[in-house]
Amino acid sequence: MKSNIEIQRVEKSNIENVDFNNLPFGSVYSDHMLECDFVNGEWQTAVIKPYAPISLDPSAKIFHYGQSIFEGMKAYKDADGNTMLFRPLDNCKRLNKSAERLVIPQIPEDIFMDGLKKLLEIDNNWIPTNEGSSLYIRPFMFASGLGFHASPADEYKFIICTAPSGAYFAGKVKVLIEEKYARAANGGVGFAKAGGNYAAQFYPTQLAIQKGYNQVIWTDDNSHEYIEEAGAMNIFIRIGNTLITSPTNDRILDGITRKSIIQIAQDSGIDVEVRKITVSEVISAAQNGNLKEMFGAGTAAVISPIAGFGYQGKDYDLPELENPFATTLKKAITDIQTNKAEDPYGWRVMV
Ligand code: COI
Repeated sequence: MKSNIEIQRVEKSNIENVDFNNLPFGSVYSDHMLECDFVNGEWQTAVIKPYAPISLDPSAKIFHYGQSIFEGMKAYKDADGNTMLFRPLDNCKRLNKSAERLVIPQIPEDIFMDGLKKLLEIDNNWIPTNEGSSLYIRPFMFASGLGFHASPADEYKFIICTAPSGAYFAGKVKVLIEEKYARAANGGVGFAKAGGNYAAQFYPTQLAIQKGYNQVIWTDDNSHEYIEEAGAMNIFIRIGNTLITSPTNDRILDGITRKSIIQIAQDSGIDVEVRKITVSEVISAAQNGNLKEMFGAGTAAVISPIAGFGYQGKDYDLPELENPFATTLKKAITDIQTNKAEDPYGWRVMV
């Protein structure tokens, strides 16, 4: 492995063309990106360079076999202007877990962490300070090696791009509980952040959007009876005063926000059950008034309350509570992320 980072700076920053008071999610990009190639069996010197299109050969295996994985992270500014990351090593570890499953080489922790820190130092002005905004970070790796043979490539690229971003969802989230399609199967790649997992959701999600929903809640591929995750976020369901979320498995992403919320909720005295939950249980709870809340949890989504859901042609509304768990937990996690509260867990990393 080569060390050090080569730095090529933009001649002129694009920052003055960005309206930080009106940020979309993930579609405005900071001045620089980090790129590192895996060639001849080793990672080369990482380069931080102006954000720009990359050139790839049409026979690069990413285009044919989708050998590609990614992560989602965020950087925040605290009140004193310090830069914060949240559990960044967990993202690096998860990227390497995904890499193993997709036969992509492991990215060394120092390329990931030192590269990211340097990138954040160079594009520090791009980290938003407005409430609810952050710098979304997208590290990804893919097969840049060539060939139509259906086998792993011999060359790869690791790239980190960043995007100052606002909320992932605009407005209330309505979800459709899926009865036909499946996101993942046992023995498959559902636990990995493989690009194809997300592409495979687009069609059923498009059908759900046509029916007036924003997202699909995936159920297991076998019986469609167990609630799994929502693709862009893990799912939490509050029945009475108990917060329930499915255990992770081959089919469910081991969300960093998910596990942080479980910890914070338990430590604040909320009764948390990490167990399988059936659609029938949710419907019964909705019918007898015990279904109090549903929310998604993810890096992009943070905590996104669900206003209602559809199942078997029927719509169910969630009640509007005065002090929902979603609000308390969102405040608790974002206060840790932005250095407004003590971090008893050591999750926050100052850059
Ligand atoms: C994230 O939450 O960062 C993700 O990677 C989910 C993605 C669909 C935006």
